[in-house]
Amino acid sequence: MADLTVELAGVPLRNPLLLASGIWGETGASMAAAYAAGAGGVVTKSIGAEPRSGYPNPTVEPLGPVGLLNAMGLPNPGIDEYPAEIEVARASGAPVIGSIFAAAPREFAALARRMAGTGVVALELNLSCPHAHGYGSEIGSDPRRVERIVRSVVAAVDLPVLAKITPNTADPAGLARAAERGGAHAISAINTVRALGIDVTLARPILAHGLGGLSGPAIKPVGLACVWQIFEAVRIPIVGIGGIASADDALEYLLAGARAVQIGTALSGPGVALFGTIARDLASRLDALGIDRWEEAVGRAHGRPPSSAVQQAPARLRRPSKPRRAP
Ligand SMILES: Cc1cc2nc3c(=O)[nH]c(=O)nc-3n(C[C@H](O)[C@H](O)[C@H](O)COP(=O)(O)O)c2cc1C
Repeated sequence: MADLTVELAGVPLRNPLLLASGIWGETGASMAAAYAAGAGGVVTKSIGAEPRSGYPNPTVEPLGPVGLLNAMGLPNPGIDEYPAEIEVARASGAPVIGSIFAAAPREFAALARRMAGTGVVALELNLSCPHAHGYGSEIGSDPRRVERIVRSVVAAVDLPVLAKITPNTADPAGLARAAERGGAHAISAINTVRALGIDVTLARPILAHGLGGLSGPAIKPVGLACVWQIFEAVRIPIVGIGGIASADDALEYLLAGARAVQIGTALSGPGVALFGTIARDLASRLDALGIDRWEEAVGRAHGRPPSSAVQQAPARLRRPSKPRRAP
């Protein structure tokens, strides 16, 4: 059987399939269930310094085979309350990546210290939520701010830092490069794609907030294109996200340059059992393709060896380096 184990920015994972932030992972029990079902690790809901109730309903609308439209407004219990949930998830053995959001470098750093104190194995910075005023992609679309935020967090904690970047920009690879310059240990790509649905009977947007973010099948090609471009632009590992619902979807991301992947919207049908299904299918598909280890095929579709020597280096030994340019 093919070897699915992977090292992500110094964190060993039993397989590359991670629970994406915000969709299933709000409680410790739900994160533990994802791990028990076969996930390699979990990412928490994005947590802020204070509790937030988010936007009024409707906040989520299924769009049939296209995917899911949402504008939740980053509801979360705040960092004072959340460590208890992380404790439950950790007790299951799951490697937990703590997702955080804030508005400015100093706030990010303070929150990162709090999150690091909960025993998470890494941090993911939400620089990409497309619909929260003053947060997410509003600040994460500017490469200089991305660099400053990442630098402040990296200086504040002794954990691998993943920068989750937005696809809602002309140059996602430029944002990834900025995060790498700031010292990020990995890039997560992508968050949802800015989107809108209109209720023609009511003549107004479907979601209470108006604009939202699209996730699910329709965004897979967008996520793949971002991962492809980012792989050409940075040396740090990439976590591919967007529309993954099968082993072959995960393989597409692997071959485009992702060292690990996250799964969100696809869980809304089968639930977390999907992790077990995809992990099993992935091992047989790799066998059928003659690939012994998941890690050895990172970025193979680029037609040259992956920068695996660099990407496998333990996070704390690596220094931000000169980005490799696209050929
Ligand atoms: C309802 C919902 C809530 C989400 N909440 C968060 C969040 O709190 N933080 C975050 O970084 N991403 C959040 N996301 C984005 C997902 O983590 C993921 O990047 C996106 O949905 C694309 O992956 P998918 O197509 O597999 O769902 C959310 C997505 C959805 C649909």
